Order: sequence, then C-alpha cells, then structure tokens
Amino acid sequence: MVSKRTIVLGIESTAHTFGCGIVDDEGNILADVRSVYVPEKGGIHPREAAQHHSTHCSEVVKKALAEAHISIDKVSAIAIALGPGLGPCLRSGAVIARALAVHFSKPLLPVNHAVAHIEIGKMLTGAKDPLIVYVSGGNTIIAAFSGGRYRVFGETLDIALGNCLDVFARKLGLAPPYIIEGLHVVDKYAEKGEKIIDLPYVVKGEDLSYSGLLTAALRKAREPGVRIEDLCLSFRENAYNMLVEAAERALAHTKKKEVLLTGGVGASPILQGKLKLMAKEHQAKLYITPKKYMGDNGVMIAWTGVLLYKSGITVDVKESFIKQRWRLDEVDIPWIS
Ligand code: FE2
Repeated sequence: MVSKRTIVLGIESTAHTFGCGIVDDEGNILADVRSVYVPEKGGIHPREAAQHHSTHCSEVVKKALAEAHISIDKVSAIAIALGPGLGPCLRSGAVIARALAVHFSKPLLPVNHAVAHIEIGKMLTGAKDPLIVYVSGGNTIIAAFSGGRYRVFGETLDIALGNCLDVFARKLGLAPPYIIEGLHVVDKYAEKGEKIIDLPYVVKGEDLSYSGLLTAALRKAREPGVRIEDLCLSFRENAYNMLVEAAERALAHTKKKEVLLTGGVGASPILQGKLKLMAKEHQAKLYITPKKYMGDNGVMIAWTGVLLYKSGITVDVKESFIKQRWRLDEVDIPWIS
C-alpha cells in the first residue's frame, strides 16, 4: 500500500514578513512566497505591519499554490506561527490560517516560530543534535534539546542582538537600508574601523545584556573626534563576542558536537567566522542555515507543521490563540526521541 504524501501549507506573520510556504513530508520545498513590510522610517510599527499582512495575504497564498502547482485540496493541513511575535501581526496571519482551515476542512497546526527557525536549520543542514544559536531581530537564544524540549541555556535579558544592531545603525543615521552589499551596515562600517573604543561587555553566566552596550555606544557617538567606523567595529566586536562567549559556555556544558546557527542575524559572515572558530576549539562542527532561510519565511512554518502533523498535534480553531510571548522551552517536541 502506498502511503499518502503529506503536504503542509505554512503561514508566517510574526513580524515584518508575511510568508506562505508549502512543503511535503520529505522536506521538498514546493513553494516559498513572501511579502515584506518595510517601514517608511523607524522600526516596525506593529499595526502598520499587520495592515500590510492583511492586504497581501490573499495574493501571497494564491501565488504559493500556483508555485507549488497544486490546488488547496491536495494540502493535508494548514500550519500557522501562533507566537512569539507582535500581537497585531500574529493576529493577521492567524485569521487567514483559521479561515483556510475552516473553509477547506483542514487540520490547523500550531507552530512556535522559534522552533520553526531551529527545525528548518536542522532539515536543510543535516545537523542532528546541535547546540542552537538563534539570533534575530526579536530573539537571542542559546538552546539545546534535552528531555523532550529545546532547553534554553542562555538568552538576552533585555533587547535582542538584531534589534540592538538595527537601532544602533538607525540612531546613527546609517540605516535604512540595513543591509549593504550583503553585510549589515554595522559590519560594513566596521570594515574601515581601526581602533577599539571601550564599551560595555555584559555576559551574566550564559545570559546576555545588550541594552547597556547600545546606550553607551550611542552616547560615545556624540563625543567629539569619535570615528563612526571605529565605533561600529568596537560595537559589533563586543556584541558578537558576548554571544560567542555565552555559546561557548553552553557548548562546554552540554558537550554537543554540533552548533547550529539560525535566525536573520546569523547571515553575518563575521559572526559565522567567530562561531566557527569557537566550535573548532571544542571539536564541534558549525552548521549554518542557508541564508535564504535564515530570516522569517513560510517554509519553516510549513516544515515544522509537517513534524507536528506526523506527531498528531493539531489545534482546534476555537483554541488557536496567539501567544506573543510563547517561549521556546514551553513547547513539547515529540518528534525527537
Ligand atoms: Fe524570526
């Protein structure tokens, strides 16, 4: 008897990206369509981003089905990122996911966004049991699987690394755009840095604190004679080295032989180089999620949906509440034995 192929349609809307991905149970990516909200100025405005998602959701889902060359009746289930993320953005994605599930009588799969970043990284790199370094605009987490869940060994105590880098660049007038020639603008300016300026470096056990670094660096920028390039170099050295130190402590503690880098900030070649060196010192191998799937996308939601579906985990539409602060370590992971 031939078993039925599972196909999951996943929806991502936790922050600036509205994405729809379609994936089968062998990890084949059938569709990956995204529409990204770009604020006119400043950071993400949650209500504006949600408005963007509501405006574009229909065309994104239609495009994804067309890209996959399937009609929705071939889809086994609908996966939705219910958190963590920005409330209005999460709500806009949840509304369309619930509507699709109800209208087409499909099971609804509740995906944690952080778990999705990890699972897509593992699926695409082949990492089996890594120490996870998940760094993005909204999250900075060092985690590893143990006893049925991804356990958090270290995390930021205040702002996320990506947020710290973006706010720093924005307040200095260097961004947007945040990416120049494939590099974050802070990495780009740091290339011409020549000397290190003393800035806060705050690692507390395996946890990190970035807010003091940000405040002090912005204060330094107002001092006469301070070169922006030197400041960017000093800022990013501290920001990245703090993360690598915390990851190294977690690696020594867990004795994992793999390190997986995932999340949008992981695209930095400077950060990748530092983590690679650290992993090598501990005879561990660094796995880097392909750049295309480091940032937010619907494919990672769809793939995690496949794992949930195969584990028999669905959510009743009436119970499919969004969870803005849904922690990684609150999620049971039954697909890892
Ligand atoms: Fe993300």
